[in-house]
Amino acid sequence: MRNGVRLLLLVAAMCLGAGVGATEWTHAVQLSPNYTLHWRPNESSVSFKIEARTLGFVGLGFSPKGGMANADIILLWVDDYTGEAHVGDYYATGNAKPRRDEIQNVELLEAEQNGTHTIVKFRREWETCDQLHDMALGEETVRLIWALGQKDPANGHDPSVWHGKQMRGTKSVYLKTASLQKKKKRANHQKPVRFWDVKMSNLLIPDNMDTRYWCKIFKLPYLDKKHHMIGYSPLIDPRNKGSVHHMILYECVHSRAHSMFARYIAHEGAACYSPKMPSDWEHCLTPIVTWAIGSEGELLPEHVGLPLSYTDYPSDTYFMLEVHYDNPTFKNARDNSGIRVHFTEELREYDGGVMTVGTTITPLHMIPPRQESYATAGYCSDECTSQMLPDTGIKVVSVVLHAHLAGRAMTLRHIRNGKELAPIVKDSHYDFNYQQARVLSNEVQIEQGDELIMECGYQTINRTEPTFGGYSTKEEMCLAFVLYYPQTSLAGCYSMTPVESFFSILGVSEFYDMDMAKIKKMLLHNDKDSRPKPLVDTPPAPGTPFPDSPLGGGHINDEANQKAIQALLNMKEFTIEPVDGAVDAAGILDGLRIRLPYEFQNRTILDHLQALSWTDKLLARKVEDAFYHGQHLIFCRRKDDSLAFLPKVQTLPNITHPHQTLEKSNCPVRRGAQLGMYSPNNANSLKTTIGVPLTITMIHILSKLH
Ligand SMILES: *[C@@H]1O[C@H](CO)[C@@H](O)[C@H](O)[C@H]1NC(C)=O
Ligand SMILES: *[C@@H]1O[C@H](CO)[C@@H](O)[C@H](O)[C@H]1NC(C)=O
Ligand SMILES: *[C@@H]1O[C@H](CO)[C@@H](O)[C@H](O)[C@H]1NC(C)=O
Ligand SMILES: *[C@@H]1O[C@H](CO)[C@@H](O)[C@H](O)[C@H]1NC(C)=O
Ligand SMILES: *[C@@H]1O[C@H](CO)[C@@H](O)[C@H](O)[C@H]1NC(C)=O
Ligand SMILES: *[C@@H]1O[C@H](CO)[C@@H](O)[C@H](O)[C@H]1NC(C)=O
Repeated sequence: MRNGVRLLLLVAAMCLGAGVGATEWTHAVQLSPNYTLHWRPNESSVSFKIEARTLGFVGLGFSPKGGMANADIILLWVDDYTGEAHVGDYYATGNAKPRRDEIQNVELLEAEQNGTHTIVKFRREWETCDQLHDMALGEETVRLIWALGQKDPANGHDPSVWHGKQMRGTKSVYLKTASLQKKKKRANHQKPVRFWDVKMSNLLIPDNMDTRYWCKIFKLPYLDKKHHMIGYSPLIDPRNKGSVHHMILYECVHSRAHSMFARYIAHEGAACYSPKMPSDWEHCLTPIVTWAIGSEGELLPEHVGLPLSYTDYPSDTYFMLEVHYDNPTFKNARDNSGIRVHFTEELREYDGGVMTVGTTITPLHMIPPRQESYATAGYCSDECTSQMLPDTGIKVVSVVLHAHLAGRAMTLRHIRNGKELAPIVKDSHYDFNYQQARVLSNEVQIEQGDELIMECGYQTINRTEPTFGGYSTKEEMCLAFVLYYPQTSLAGCYSMTPVESFFSILGVSEFYDMDMAKIKKMLLHNDKDSRPKPLVDTPPAPGTPFPDSPLGGGHINDEANQKAIQALLNMKEFTIEPVDGAVDAAGILDGLRIRLPYEFQNRTILDHLQALSWTDKLLARKVEDAFYHGQHLIFCRRKDDSLAFLPKVQTLPNITHPHQTLEKSNCPVRRGAQLGMYSPNNANSLKTTIGVPLTITMIHILSKLH
């Protein structure tokens, strides 16, 4: 019966809806040349169609980490002899043959097998309420696992060949996301979409460096009128696939952009934010395109375009392309990667904009070692949104979340009048290798006076040393690039722990040979001519004691605060890229030797961080809480690099009505809490139960507990 026999099997579920066959599949991904998955999300459920080149079984699974462990698996096949279709809801506990769930939650819609292919359609609820064996699906990243079996399972209900000979793999996707495919259709009557390639030109990547950020200036080709950018696609040099980690295209905004940037067109580029990068380039800070590994590009929704050239004057528009190369094994590679910008003169209804929200990139963004989960927060204050957003507010279209290798969970929290609204984006399954923009199913309104908290959860369970904020993939970031409309002049709204706070939370009050001003200079890059040098070269200076700042959440000496603000005013908050032998974050901190308090005397800060007993949960939670709910120095930066107001120290708002995070679902209580999430509820209870300021002695005592 096998050869040439066409089986068309309309299963019982046919009654389900004439809709099924007729409606289009809005999303698709090719999991392998022999396996294509289509799907169609709606509010309550998701329907799938698999087209696979096999007459055996097909498997599709949803996995927390990409392997079989704890995966929720669906197996389907059409019996070669009887033509009967089978579907089963399974689970796997490890690399072993999956077991059948007690409760079956997959609905077969159609199954067909022709001479070469198996084509199956099925459906499941996002939340099946099978708390034991099904994964709740939704907007978060899902690691799909897939398998193609050569044969049908030997007996109807036992997929014993699962673990046998088969093709398989894994791929991260967002299942519940708006589809942008529709717009391809009505292309006929549209003005042609043009493109502009912005890319490196035979850039030499030296072999002595495992992280490199290269920045280069480009000029937009002459346009006689305003155009809209409507999307982009990455151009990855095939030679360096896997090494190009992310790319950001920034617009350079300055009233005299032409006289400032024309001379850089022929410039080969420079290591970003290093002393070698011309400081004029620091005006290029409005991200227009943010691409990261795993993304295939992005098309904007049909009512939004990013303006490329303005109506009033045919302007010279300049951009800076930043490419992050990451590959410890580079051998003097050459690279031509970049971005293809798609644009059109057929303007869309709204001008869009992109702003950055999150944590300043600084070594003070510290994540302790040995943490199953550890959360940090970047804060965008009500003052910034009040000053920078229009009366009508803005609408968020899509968000790119960006953290590095330790990033596990990211939530862009949204607070209005002390009440927490649903998060704008939330992902507890963040995958560093899949950073496609998340197109919101429903646009979210941000109003004047709203506050945002970019919360990042990290896992460092196997790291033995602290991780610091920085540019390398081994260091961390916590950022959201938010695409919204209508356009405003806001480029970024983010925060960092003030320098004094950082040390006081760690219970340190004074260093040898180094006063606060000097430390700030090193950590804050406030003075290009006195950039960090190896500390041995620093002439000893009288050890000026720190202002006497209470710990975690206390006030900061005003004068010191003013100084910090002064230091921060005319500079990028970015710390320096460890290029050309300059010291890195750990290097800077390792050079600071503690004088006071006595119990930590003669340790370096790095020693001190290592010596703390991070496996002690109480200590880790207290430090986490002190940083999260402690002081934040807030930057509200405009596109032209100016600050809307002086950086200001604030703590997070008191949230009176925490949002009930997940599950507006009707399921009975889900098993356990979501792994690793520091939910607002927890945060509040932490605050009340251990909201007492962390004292030196307490840390000291805690560190001796083990
Ligand atoms: C696809 O299937 C064909 C036929 O079974 C097989 O020869 C080929 O190797 C498969 N290709 C891949 C990439 O698995
Ligand atoms: C979602 O789709 C399924 C099947 O196509 C349908 O039965 C269901 O009513 C839809 N739900 C909503 C909320 O549209
Ligand atoms: C079998 O189905 C596949 C997938 O839909 C299709 O590409 C192929 O042409 C079909 N083969 C035959 C013989 O109809
Ligand atoms: C940590 O290391 C252990 C032992 O090598 C390994 O089994 C585990 O998967 C690692 N965990 C993570 C999160 O990398
Ligand atoms: C720290 O080192 C100095 C000498 O460099 C020594 O006098 C002092 O006793 C040391 N302090 C501690 C606590 O060991
Ligand atoms: C939050 O509440 C506490 C105690 O009621 C208060 O001390 C603190 O200033 C408040 N924080 C903010 C940002 O309003």
